[in-house]
Amino acid sequence: MTADEYNLSKLFPEEDLRKTFAKVFDKNVIKTIHTLSSQGHFDHLEYTIATGKEAHVFRAVDNAGHFRAIKIYKIETSDFKRMEEYLDFEPRFKKAKHDKRNIVFAWTQKEFSALQRFKKNKVNVPTPLAAKENVLVMEFIGENGEPSPRLKDARVENIDAFYENVCVNIARMLNAKIIHGDLSEYNILVQDDEPIIIDCGQAIPTIHPNAKKFYERDLNNMLKVFHRMGLKELTFDTFYEDVKKAKESGK
Ligand SMILES: Nc1ncnc2c1ncn2[C@@H]1O[C@H](COP(=O)(O)OP(=O)(O)O)[C@@H](O)[C@H]1O
Ligand SMILES: [Mg+2]
Repeated sequence: MTADEYNLSKLFPEEDLRKTFAKVFDKNVIKTIHTLSSQGHFDHLEYTIATGKEAHVFRAVDNAGHFRAIKIYKIETSDFKRMEEYLDFEPRFKKAKHDKRNIVFAWTQKEFSALQRFKKNKVNVPTPLAAKENVLVMEFIGENGEPSPRLKDARVENIDAFYENVCVNIARMLNAKIIHGDLSEYNILVQDDEPIIIDCGQAIPTIHPNAKKFYERDLNNMLKVFHRMGLKELTFDTFYEDVKKAKESGK
């Protein structure tokens, strides 16, 4: 079956979405969407939640009315040089080298695996549901169908509890032996005053030679966020120790 023969108005009932999608993504992506949909991961795509340089995120829905988040990496505009550097370290992705498409596919798989491993270690992340080529299907984080806000745009009621919760989640990421690598107020959603960590494509194993550098950068980025949120006295050392304590307490 060629992409032209897929029932596009079933996969994208919204005409505007169908047109935008066709402008941004090629027929291969439509084929992948079709496959994932026929495997039962969702019925159709509804609208765009976010558009970025490297990926677009959509809300989808299944026949029973359950929402899904679909993240699709763009092949052309992804920084595959950077992706390749990250992938280099992981033997299972070695074969992906030197081909743009394969690098982005491996990257998508890498985000899926990191989410799985985080989930197993009780890190608050969207449940990963499927990954195929450059398409990742995951749990939709939201309330009444509205996507949850990013920490940058959210109002957190209990800042101390939120801080502790972030420490526990970082500790659990360490238990998973993975450093997120891009922790920020853009990559944390807030649902019921709790942090949900997203955007895990660049996550690196704790045995990576640069792991310490990335870990400290993550903590420093979050430290600035907590300062802005009102925890003015918080220092890097206290933050570091609080994560360590959370890890040791097995929370
Ligand atoms: N599982 C999800 N549920 C709801 N919204 C999501 C989900 N994943 C991502 N988003 C939304 O999409 C945006 C971009 O996703 P992200 O994974 O951070 O990709 P990017 O690489 O473009 O930063 C997020 O800021 C968030 O608003
Ligand atoms: Mg992001």
